[in-house]
Amino acid sequence: MFAALIGTGSYLPGHPVGNEDLAARGIDTNDEWIVTRTGIRSRHLAESGTTSSEMGLIAAQRALEMAGIAASELDLIIVATSTPDFIFPSTACLIQGKLGNKGAAAFDVQAVCAGFTYALGIAEKFIRSGGHKKALVIGAEVFSRILDWRDRGTCVLFGDGAGAVVLAASDKPGILASAMHADGSQNGILNVPGQICGGQITGDPFLRMDGQAVFKFAVRVLADVAQEVCQAAGLQPSEIDWLVPHQANIRIIEATGKKLGVDRSKVIVTVDRHGNTSAASVPLALDEAVRDGRIQRGHKVLVEGVGGGFTWGAALFEF
Ligand code: UT7
Repeated sequence: MFAALIGTGSYLPGHPVGNEDLAARGIDTNDEWIVTRTGIRSRHLAESGTTSSEMGLIAAQRALEMAGIAASELDLIIVATSTPDFIFPSTACLIQGKLGNKGAAAFDVQAVCAGFTYALGIAEKFIRSGGHKKALVIGAEVFSRILDWRDRGTCVLFGDGAGAVVLAASDKPGILASAMHADGSQNGILNVPGQICGGQITGDPFLRMDGQAVFKFAVRVLADVAQEVCQAAGLQPSEIDWLVPHQANIRIIEATGKKLGVDRSKVIVTVDRHGNTSAASVPLALDEAVRDGRIQRGHKVLVEGVGGGFTWGAALFEF
């Protein structure tokens, strides 16, 4: 029994916001710095009031349409997000309600930028166990809400959006291998160390990052986890058709591809137009490459992510 990907979808809010637009808004930055250090040229930022569940719903509807199944057929809904609409209920339950599905298991996964790879691996295991047959896996984020717009070292890096996939139990190959890992001792290098307590915010409610420490950690674990799933599937990294890495920084993406020996032409890149959309970045990039015809049925695709926690994960599937 495999978990096969039968549909993808995505959604980006509003219009692209270019690097010079950020500078024009009073942030002490410039296009040259952002492009050279990150490869980011623009990102989408949600209007105030737009939520992860609203964006995730549209991505989900698009994925269900491609899959050709009704929301009522789903028996599992997992949303990867670090920017949920509420503390509770989960964003997955909110999307379930909006889709009109009743009865599916629905919950959120909090693994930051590795969230989608975690959610995909969890859904795969639910399906392979025989307990569930049709799963919706969503990554949805409004990171613009947790950015300190006075901190130029972080606010220029992120964007908002959502992506989704539909998985179904199948006797034909789908996900061949998946992996997920964490190292909680690294919690201090990327976090939002705030809380709501007694109706007040305590601590710091903004994203904080040690960029260089994150950079080094990310390159190492992304290469390791890609090797791990290739080995589990009995493939060499050079045999995969497409690498869809977390879209945080073009230099991290290129360094990982080089370490793995995957040709640049096989790497899907959206960071230039989306920025880092955390858990949404992989399904957004995946959907773009499926819809523009680069990723085709039968292709072997490796998706991978890394984020705060620290967390990291990957999945290798035949589309
Ligand atoms: O999902 C995981 C999320 N995070 C990441 O993947 C981030 C990984 N890290 C990185 O991508 C890089 O570390 C950054 C792009 C965040 C930063 O690049 P860096 O080469 O590590 O730069 P830096 O932080 O060491 O800063 C270099 C200089 C500083 O100026 P001084 O002190 O040398 O005068 C910063 O103040 O660049 C300055 N700077 C900026 N200048 C213009 C920092 N942010 C900006 C900015 N515009 N937006």
